[in-house]
Amino acid sequence: MIVRKTPAELDKMRRSGMLVYQLLEKLKEMAVEGCSTMELEVAAEKMIADAGAKPAFKGYYVQAAGETYKFALCTSVNNEVIHGMPNSKRTLKKGDILSIDTGVKLDGYYGDSAVTLPVGEVSEAAKKLLKVTQESLELAIDRVRSGNRLFDVCGTVEQHVKSHGFSIVREFVGHGIGTQLHEEPQVPNYVDRRNENPRLKPGMVLAVEPMVSAGRPETVVLKDRWTAVTKDGSNSAHFEHCIAVTENGPWVLTRP
Ligand code: MF3
Ligand code: CO
Repeated sequence: MIVRKTPAELDKMRRSGMLVYQLLEKLKEMAVEGCSTMELEVAAEKMIADAGAKPAFKGYYVQAAGETYKFALCTSVNNEVIHGMPNSKRTLKKGDILSIDTGVKLDGYYGDSAVTLPVGEVSEAAKKLLKVTQESLELAIDRVRSGNRLFDVCGTVEQHVKSHGFSIVREFVGHGIGTQLHEEPQVPNYVDRRNENPRLKPGMVLAVEPMVSAGRPETVVLKDRWTAVTKDGSNSAHFEHCIAVTENGPWVLTRP
């Protein structure tokens, strides 16, 4: 069942979403050459606590890993797709691309967002990967409208990414969000005809999160049981927003 939120609930999700936005803005400023991913984690945990919120990922059980995640952030560098773990020895270098994915729980409701950013000057190929992935999210956001169907959203990401010669990562998907971090429906970044294709209705909230590989789509999880990397070593980008379906069109909760 896809939970539909009341306007009062959406206002709460808006507050979680804006906290995640402010957090990512701060982390984007910090993420320069020489900064370690653990420094970002420490700053994030402080900001979340100061706001009276809880990190959404820390303590979250993931079946595939067989344990709970230990951090507020996923910091995935270059060929790391998602679930890269903050590490004081992982220092950002010029030319890296860093994905920061984070979520909070505030007043009972979750917010979840991710961004991939260049560290200093990056290659033209990396710039294009970031641009196309972000564009695919923007195009998908515009499909999060009452009366459209889920596959409109999924297919829009897929079509845009493929048309630029990049690959959609299939092992990880977006999701509904609300009082749970992950709610129905699953939101793959491709049309999965094995799934249902529900019509979108006001009050539904989707976390849409394209994960794109510059090369082949396959991923493998490292021995740490978390870090998912592209099998062929190519760069990967990840952007995510939470979007509410309203009578007046898409409402991106995780940005102003
Ligand atoms: N990247 C996932 C998402 O955006 C959440 C992280 S799972 C966790 O939905 F284990 F890191 F918490
Ligand atoms: Co998410």
